[in-house]
Amino acid sequence: MKVLVTGGCGYIGSHTIIDLLDHGFDVVSVDNLVNSSEATLAGIKAITGKDVQNYVLDLCDLAATRQIFLDHPDINGIIHFAALKFVGESVEQPLRYFQNNLNSLLNVLSCLEEFGVDHFIFSSSCSVYGNTDALPVTEGTPFQEAESPYGRTKQIGEQMIKDFAKKQQSASFIALRYFNPCGAHPSNQLGESPIHGASNLVPVITETAIGKREKMTIFGDDYDTRDGSCVRDYIHVMDLANAHTKALQFLIAGKNDKNYDIFNLGIGEGVSVLEAVNAFMKVTEKPLNYEIGPRRAGDVIAIYANSEKATRLLGWVPKYGIDDIMRTAWAWEKKRTAEA
Ligand code: NAD
Ligand code: WQD
Repeated sequence: MKVLVTGGCGYIGSHTIIDLLDHGFDVVSVDNLVNSSEATLAGIKAITGKDVQNYVLDLCDLAATRQIFLDHPDINGIIHFAALKFVGESVEQPLRYFQNNLNSLLNVLSCLEEFGVDHFIFSSSCSVYGNTDALPVTEGTPFQEAESPYGRTKQIGEQMIKDFAKKQQSASFIALRYFNPCGAHPSNQLGESPIHGASNLVPVITETAIGKREKMTIFGDDYDTRDGSCVRDYIHVMDLANAHTKALQFLIAGKNDKNYDIFNLGIGEGVSVLEAVNAFMKVTEKPLNYEIGPRRAGDVIAIYANSEKATRLLGWVPKYGIDDIMRTAWAWEKKRTAEA
């Protein structure tokens, strides 16, 4: 089956393409490279031996987006990763985030309707839960107010899909709520390559260890957690990638009992910032120049997933833990720095 992967040159999209190709899917990508480069395609080729076609176009352009489906009338699944994803930037540029993330979703759904595509998977986020104190978070945990316009685009995106799915009964839809994706492909041919500078914890750690940053700051050690730092659910990108394949296979096999469903994707374990930093130092035997700083505005104190539904229904079992995340992220940091 042919699948359109939007945002296929990005971090999670590119790793998912590898897993899809490994499982026999044919893939076409579309990415306007606003936060990536086509170097990713070379990494995919090095791992799989396969060339993936990428359309460099903006999904907010409906006519251009339609052309992909005219060129590939056999596309029968869409995995929609493409979005702007920086929480802080979204606070500064809310309209740009609404414009990009919602219009691109709207256009992709319009194409699904026009071209009769049967299966759709949406990249959602734990950010839909807002600052919840229900732990672990299940798919039924109510949304709190979104902490940012970015998080709002995910809440609205899910609601758009839910409403559309009621009308588009011939198709089936899944929203996957990722927790904190990190790590790199174990082959070390592909990983996260932030082109506008990293802000997430794991790339900040590896950039500090390699000397791109003089030091890093741990944002707060006075929270009400076991060591005072915030707690998150760090999920390896290859485990996340495989969940997309499993979700698609689930829909194709008709195992879904409703045409719109939602799954959390985390490993279900909370890891504190200090524990993550210590895991890095243990696994890599590299010291890390860090200091304890003030709390970061908007940070949730602790959040981790209950992903039992994905295991039960999709047969998804994450294989990697925090040590594997640090090992693969570090190998990738060394490689991309050497090649820069
Ligand atoms: P990414 O930025 O690496 O990938 C997204 C890709 O989409 C980029 O390559 C970008 O160039 C492309 N893109 C953006 N707008 C586009 C448009 N209008 N037209 C065409 N291409 C466009 O991000 P990622 O980390 O791979 O995230 C993928 C998805 O997962 C996003 O929807 C993101 O919101 C979601 N998500 C990410 C995380 C995370 O921490 N990485 C967590 C939860 C959810
Ligand atoms: C993790 C922890 C920081 C950097 C974000 C989005 C969320 C989702 C995942 C997209 C926090 C601490 C970080 C640093 C630190 N993305 N930290 N020093 O904020 O949990 O989630 O990415 O959907 O929506 O909000 O991820 O990696 O930024 O932070 O101490 O230099 O690391 O305070 O506790 P976050 P993160």
